[in-house]
Amino acid sequence: MDVKTAILERRSIRKYKPDPVPEELLQELLEAARLAPSGTNHQPWRFIVVKNQEIKEQIQEHSFNQRFLSEAPVLLVCCADISTYAKNTRKRIEELVAVGVFDEEIFNRYPNANQPMDAATLKGYIPHAMLNVAIAMENIALRAVSLGLGTCFVQLMRAKPIAQLLELPEHMIITALMPVGYPDQHPVQRPRLKQEDIVYKVVE
Ligand SMILES: Cc1cc2nc3c(=O)[nH]c(=O)nc-3n(C[C@H](O)[C@H](O)[C@H](O)COP(=O)(O)O)c2cc1C
Repeated sequence: MDVKTAILERRSIRKYKPDPVPEELLQELLEAARLAPSGTNHQPWRFIVVKNQEIKEQIQEHSFNQRFLSEAPVLLVCCADISTYAKNTRKRIEELVAVGVFDEEIFNRYPNANQPMDAATLKGYIPHAMLNVAIAMENIALRAVSLGLGTCFVQLMRAKPIAQLLELPEHMIITALMPVGYPDQHPVQRPRLKQEDIVYKVVE
């Protein structure tokens, strides 16, 4: 399946068949996530693969009881590991200097690139880290279509109790949930804005 077809055919799936997701297909999805781009190649995405029915049901309870969450055979809890920003910053910048994106002066902007980061500075990376996780999730969503699987982005959830349930450390920031399974529905394409409505301005 080409990328355009996958983009056209993807839908948010909110009804799943009970059939399990074969392990090799699950690995294909995680591989699609692994290959996503990320700022300074930090790759902050981490996934908790939940197959346990009881745990899925508890996550569902913390997600305004959206029923399809426990119905899907696999529920991915998609996290940003902000601790990835605490290390390797200098190395990442060096990579960009090496390919000629920046000159050496860039190191003046990151005088502490070799120092461990304090918790407050790390927290500042959360929006950036979450953006990276969202990109990896879109890779999963599109790859899933090409494998006959369905997914849905789910952000209506309470991250704190879910993190407690899964015993996640503080540096793991839950970005969204993503149920995965064989679709038991074929929703029509949902409405979208026109192209002219999304181009705010053309600067020539
Ligand atoms: C960041 C994000 C959060 C979302 N959260 C939820 C959610 O909590 N529950 C849900 O049923 N759908 C959720 N959706 C799915 C959207 O409702 C859906 O993408 C949109 O209505 C367009 O439909 P389509 O995905 O089928 O094209 C979310 C989508 C995104 C991108």
